[in-house]
Amino acid sequence: MGRLALVTGGTRGIGAAISLRLKRAGYRVVANYAGNDTAAEAFREQHDIPVLKFDVSDFAACQEAINQVNRDLGHIEILVNNAGITRDSTLHKMSEEAWHNVINTNLNSCFNLSRLVIEQMREHNFGRIINISSINGQAGQFGQANYAAAKAGMVGFAKALAQENASKGITVNVIAPGYIATEMVRAVPEKILEKIIAKIPAGRLGEADEVARCVEFLVADESGFITGSTLSVNGGQYMC
Ligand code: CAA
Repeated sequence: MGRLALVTGGTRGIGAAISLRLKRAGYRVVANYAGNDTAAEAFREQHDIPVLKFDVSDFAACQEAINQVNRDLGHIEILVNNAGITRDSTLHKMSEEAWHNVINTNLNSCFNLSRLVIEQMREHNFGRIINISSINGQAGQFGQANYAAAKAGMVGFAKALAQENASKGITVNVIAPGYIATEMVRAVPEKILEKIIAKIPAGRLGEADEVARCVEFLVADESGFITGSTLSVNGGQYMC
């Protein structure tokens, strides 16, 4: 029986590509989603991947969901913290709500879910946690003080967790995608997006599956010596 993976935001965009790749590689996958029931239902039907609706920013909701997965499918061995939102605005125009929504969904969710699965991973001496960060957490981005702070926070969080859990067979790594052809990026005003693409040495947006294959690599049993690292997938746009 394949190892059990939970992918947050796993029915659309990069998350959907991750869910599909892991399933194809023989893992058992549960895909979380927050709001879009129609898309989630279509995803479940088309790919035969169970979907689970809960708000990753709500600790109690996460606890209930993890309990349900544990009851129905067993202990979670792989967690992909992928769920994320943008509420772009320059800081001088940013509302408190736009700040907190992004920090809660993108960063506090990593605490919520990692906290809830870490004990079962430690108990079984195996675990893989992948945080899907962003180039904009590494380089900053005009109009994204909230998003950049959350995405940079995911890196520090992963490095601390990697140290705490390395002796228990648990690895914690970060993938930092650049601009990938998803709904989130397509929502950037066209003129701004054109300027961004002009700065990508590869000359194009990335594909969601180009991120997903990195997840498949990092969660493999054979990748047990890689922990606390950040893998950039950005077409050469930012190197660090
Ligand atoms: N760098 C420098 N200056 C910029 C700029 C940039 N990237 N973007 C805009 N400006 C300038 C504008 O040219 C403008 O200057 P003038 O007044 O001299 O014309 C000024 O800043 C104000 O710009 P806007 O009119 O765009 O300001 P706004 O308040 O209407 O919009 C914004 C601000 C909503 C943040 C808008 O700039 C925007 O949408 N930017 C894109 C942000 C972005 O890249 N988001 C990524 C989303 S995808 C994602 O996050 C996935 C991932 O991980 C990669």
